[in-house]
Amino acid sequence: MEFYLDTAYLHEIQEIASWGVLRGVTTNPTHVAKAGIRNLRAHIQEICWTVDAPISVEVVTIDADEMVTQGLNFATWSPHIVVKLPTVPAGLKAMTRITRTTATASCEDCAHFEGCPIRARFASHNELTRTPEVNATLIFTANQAMLALAAGASYVSPFVGRLDAIGEDGIPLIADIAQILRVQQDTGKIIAAALRHPIHVTAVAKAGAHIATISYDILRQLIQHPLTDQGLSSFMADYERSRKQ
Ligand code: E4P
Repeated sequence: MEFYLDTAYLHEIQEIASWGVLRGVTTNPTHVAKAGIRNLRAHIQEICWTVDAPISVEVVTIDADEMVTQGLNFATWSPHIVVKLPTVPAGLKAMTRITRTTATASCEDCAHFEGCPIRARFASHNELTRTPEVNATLIFTANQAMLALAAGASYVSPFVGRLDAIGEDGIPLIADIAQILRVQQDTGKIIAAALRHPIHVTAVAKAGAHIATISYDILRQLIQHPLTDQGLSSFMADYERSRKQ
């Protein structure tokens, strides 16, 4: 199970990256607006520098041609860009085209360009020019996931908590898609999204999600337990006592 942060706040990404457990970041237009980002490219490049892992960046249009233009532009910002596209007919068209077009991560104007080890690593594997990966977002059925995979998506993002919010159960959707991937021997990955609490995280892992993308607050909750804190306090107190003897 891989943990991604679902946020555009750099301080949150920095904190969780410092734990060594962060394997990617997903952003969306809501996160970008909330964080008050003016220069999206510079901000995404800063995230790339911080996390050195896949970063999903979402298009902001409902037109297929514009999705392709925006997505291919994102892909030039960093070799870690994953183009996030909505799972609607226009999104499928854009997925098909983007995943069949090459784009070069030129990293133009990145503040860390000079001597960047991330860029050098991709360059040494000849991977700065590639067909961009796609994350198909806003998935609520297994059929939508299958269509996205057929259109070339590498990642599918079912929104678990939003199904729960309308009185459905989001977890069986994760299990269904995981089973389909296994039966069909498809290499696509499930990013369980819109998770609302730690129990969701355990449940999607058991249901077969490859990745959970989580808010900073939920990620912090995952490590917390009162008995851990209590146990640590008593160990430290006992150690201090024994030092003084
Ligand atoms: C996933 O990639 C989305 O950004 C995210 O999980 C959206 O979910 P929410 O806005 O319902 O929390």
